[in-house]
Amino acid sequence: MQNQPGERIDRGRRVWLMATSVAGGVGSVAAAVPFVGSLAPSERARAAGAPVEADIGALKAGEMMTVAWRGKPVWMIRRTDQMLAEVRKANSLVADPESQHPFSMPLPEYCRNPYRARPEHPHLLVLVGICTHLGCSPVARFQPGPHPNLPDNWPGGWLCPCHGSTFDLAGRVFKNKPAPQNLDVPRYMFLSPTRMVIGKDEKGEA
Ligand code: FES
Repeated sequence: MQNQPGERIDRGRRVWLMATSVAGGVGSVAAAVPFVGSLAPSERARAAGAPVEADIGALKAGEMMTVAWRGKPVWMIRRTDQMLAEVRKANSLVADPESQHPFSMPLPEYCRNPYRARPEHPHLLVLVGICTHLGCSPVARFQPGPHPNLPDNWPGGWLCPCHGSTFDLAGRVFKNKPAPQNLDVPRYMFLSPTRMVIGKDEKGEA
């Protein structure tokens, strides 16, 4: 059956929502597969370029959701006060605490702050969910404390299942891991308190 105009993005979103996590801690099966390699060329072409909108109205504190943008998963995490406190505690443990060395896109100026988020919405973190080592999709491990393959003083964040890189609750890579850089933060802006657009901000499209 032929697609109707407007169906394409929705179908892509459904695929990613199934393939990655809607809530923190879910989705480790799909995340173990290198992300870029899992996209058929037609999918990549279809998803590339345009900004995407996301409704975050149902996103609860401590959870994350995923949308597809330019063929990549983009995570939106509504961090709690406790999660922001863990970001501050991780400053001495991450390799590039101030994100001086971006990966594939410059860190937006408005995210150049301790939480890597828009100052007017510090709890809302937006990340490209692609490991900066070899492109796997890390899995959420938001709960602080001991987990398999993580240190006992784990502050919460993401674990890449491919080679063990770990990222804090601002997407910054911990020291001495294979991943060389922090996770990317794309341009984004709020259209309303519950609607966001990824890949675009007041200065235009990424
Ligand atoms: S791809 Fe993530 S650690 Fe290698």
